[in-house]
Order: sequence, then structure tokens, then C-alpha cells
Amino acid sequence: MRTIEWDPKGTVKMIDQRKLPLEFVVVEFDDYRDVARAIHDMYIRGAPAIGAAAAYAMALAAQQSSATTPGGLIGDLRTAADILRGTRPTAVNLFWALNRMLRTAQASETKDVEGLVQELVAEAEQIAGEDIEINRRMGAYGAALVEDEFNILTHCNAGALATVDYGTALAVVRAAHEQSKRIHVWVDETRPRLQGARLTAWELMNEGIPMTLIADNVAGHLMRTGKVDIVFVGSDRTAANGDVANKIGTYKLAVVAKENGIPFYAVVPTSTIDLSVPTGDDIPIEERSADEVTHPGGCQVAPDGVQVLNVAFDVTPHRYVTGIVTENGIAYPPFRRSLRQMVEA
Ligand code: MRU
Repeated sequence: MRTIEWDPKGTVKMIDQRKLPLEFVVVEFDDYRDVARAIHDMYIRGAPAIGAAAAYAMALAAQQSSATTPGGLIGDLRTAADILRGTRPTAVNLFWALNRMLRTAQASETKDVEGLVQELVAEAEQIAGEDIEINRRMGAYGAALVEDEFNILTHCNAGALATVDYGTALAVVRAAHEQSKRIHVWVDETRPRLQGARLTAWELMNEGIPMTLIADNVAGHLMRTGKVDIVFVGSDRTAANGDVANKIGTYKLAVVAKENGIPFYAVVPTSTIDLSVPTGDDIPIEERSADEVTHPGGCQVAPDGVQVLNVAFDVTPHRYVTGIVTENGIAYPPFRRSLRQMVEA
């Protein structure tokens, strides 16, 4: 199934990613506040999937509203959007999807509330459907960078699970594999939440794509000893100058890649490009709870009461980024111009 989907009876279904790879559990919600909690608690995660979840949550909020006029319904949608905005600060797709849903409601010429609810459900479905189409296009552009027998390194999970389907960085991997290129993927485990070990490994193994799981600290050694040909990562928000915010640890990879002459690409739908933030310094960086570091997988690994800093994302300055693969082509430096072209295409 898709990572997230709308059930015609008026509910949202999503894979509970906290349980993977040990259990495949699908949860179903009819209240937008539960979807907000699911985003915050990372039942669903990955910037594009968070965007789709926010859009479906707005469709639920419309359904739940007891308003009798379109104006009243829009007021209830604004309240829902405020709650959803508070779930995760870095992934810009969240805010992008909420704004798109609010704009749809405001632009609607429908006079009856039921008609407006149907329009909002259709818009959420449209956002989710577009995501898959966009990912396939990014996969096709990115796969042209991959040669036969390449060793690819990736971080976190920028796969089907991080999107509605097919993935961003893993879209490139999938597309190259579909083209029968003999590739191998080094998968960073990605502490502290282990999205690489739990999710990327699960996805690639399910599809029979050759891969090896590594502890995060191994990547530098592999790059220095010539075992990595190219790096592909996703992004939660990319600034106008090409600075890329992504899962914590990405910056370190990019610096070591440059030091070793290895191309480093971010695979980024234009919905993740935030032209309103001039540089990565303006991107809000999420901090999460200490227990994600002290109790990975529920198992205590640090002393009781230890002080912890759990920063969930970092910013890779654009000078370390070789190119940014979007659904409209690959942007190269100077990014300020090329990213704008990609967004406006
Ligand atoms: O904290 P997460 O799991 O939501 O972080 C996900 C990432 O960092 C991904 O690389 C990013 O969202 C791009 S995914 C297509």
C-alpha cells in the first residue's frame, strides 16, 4: 500500500512506521488531531509524507466541522492548520500543504459546505497523487547520474516511506535498479531513530536492491578508501541559496564527500524548496526528546538523568552540494538562480 491513503468512507490510513521492520501495522484516523499527533510522534515521517498527512488532516478537519457556511468552515480549517503547524518545524512540506489546502478553500466558489468538503478531499488526494508522479520524475533525472556498478551512499530514509510512494533519494536508486544498472547501496543506520536501519534497509531488501547496512561512523572510512561513488540524500527544507536541511549527520557526510572528490546530490521536490528563506541559517531546526538518544528502540543505553542534546536536522552549506535533483531537472550552482528556475518551471 501507499505510505498514506484516503479511505472512501472518510478516514485516513497510514503505515505506523514506528513499528517497522518488526511489525507492519496500518492505523486509521477520522480526527485531524490524531493525524497531528501521528506526525509529531513519527508514525509518519519524511518531508513529503508529512505534507500529504497534513493535507489529509485538513480534509478530515473539513469533514469534522459543524459549520453551516463556507466562511465558518474556513474558520475551522484555520484552527486545524494552527494545530498541525505545531507538529514538526523543519519539513517545509507541512506548511506548503497546509497553505495549499487553505488557498483551495478560500478560492472555492462553492456555496454549500458539503461541496467544499468534497473539494478539500479531492485536493488532498491531488497532493498525494502528484507526489508519486513527482518522485518518478526525480528518479528518472537522478538515475542518469548513476553508472553501472556504482556504490551509492544514502542517509536516513528518503524512500517510499518518506513520501506517498517511490521516494526521493531512493527514487533515484529505484529508477537506476529498474534500468538494470548493477548498483549497491550503503545505508547509514541513522542514529538516533535508526530510519536507515529500520526503514531504508526494509524497503531495499523488499525490492531485492543490493545493500549493506553500516553504522553512521563507517561512511568516512568508505569514502576515503574509494568505496563510494556518489551520495544521494533527501531534504526537509532547501533554502533559496541551495543550503540543504536534512537528517542530522548529513552535513558531516557532505564535507567528507567533498574532501574525497565524491559527488553529493540532494533529491528534492520543488515543494521542499523554500525560496522565502535566503540561507540555511534561517531554517528552523527541530530538537526532540532526550529519550530518543538514551533509549533507542526502548532499550536504555545511557545513565539515568544524563544531559542530552537531540538535534534532529542539520544544514549542509551549498558549497558542499554538487547538484539538487528536482522533478523539473537538476539544479547546479549558482543555486539561487537554478533553484528559482526549477520552482517556476
Ligand atoms: O525525522 P524524519 O524521519 O522525518 O527525517 C526524514 C529525513 O530527514 C528525510 O531525509 C527527508 O525528509 C527527505 S525524505 C524524502
